[in-house]
Amino acid sequence: SLKIKIAPSLLSGDFAYLARDCERMVDYGADYLHMDVMDGHFVPNLTIGAPVIKSLRPHTKGFLDCHLMVSSPEKWIDDFAKAGADQVGFHIEATNDAGSIIDKIHKLNMRACITLKPKTPVDDILPFLSKVDQVLVMTVEPGFGGQKFMPEMLEKVRTIRKQFPELDIQVDGGIGPTEARLASSAGANVFVAGSAIFNTPDPKKAIEEIRRMGTE
Ligand code: DX5
Ligand code: ZN
Repeated sequence: SLKIKIAPSLLSGDFAYLARDCERMVDYGADYLHMDVMDGHFVPNLTIGAPVIKSLRPHTKGFLDCHLMVSSPEKWIDDFAKAGADQVGFHIEATNDAGSIIDKIHKLNMRACITLKPKTPVDDILPFLSKVDQVLVMTVEPGFGGQKFMPEMLEKVRTIRKQFPELDIQVDGGIGPTEARLASSAGANVFVAGSAIFNTPDPKKAIEEIRRMGTE
């Protein structure tokens, strides 16, 4: 009964044609548009922030799934709400008060997602999972697209799924059809994919393949 969702990461698209790429992904059947927000501090890369989400908002009806890889995420929640984000994900490593960040996101009528880096033990997030709409298990070190999937992260997915049968579990990093199948067997149902979708001649087919393999 858990819905399979495919979330193309626009980080692998062309930021000069962001609205176009988003609409293409929606046409190809994407459930979420995954927006990777990086501050050059929490992760060693710099991408986009709320102003870009705000500019994009009138150009797409797609679900804007914003993955905040930033220090002090609590500073930015208001801006993302005003910009029109549908879901905000923040890293447990970036805060000492995950509970109030979740409350803040909910107060602003967005879905809340909590996420963790590969080196962070799953136990660190378990206490918050009854409050969130989604958990994101990173399957690469956050910062860049095009990295290799870390299969050992699936143990975290298994642990979470055992305790939370209805929770959306998203995986992000190095996901293509093969990895989607592995992650699905572990209990994941939301699949982020950047290079596996954008760096192929047929992105629509890539989305369909990831969905098919993620369903099995
Ligand atoms: C990495 C980002 C991912 C990344 C995924 O920090 O969170 O969303 O763009 O890209 P691929 O699918 O190429 O690993
Ligand atoms: Zn991401």
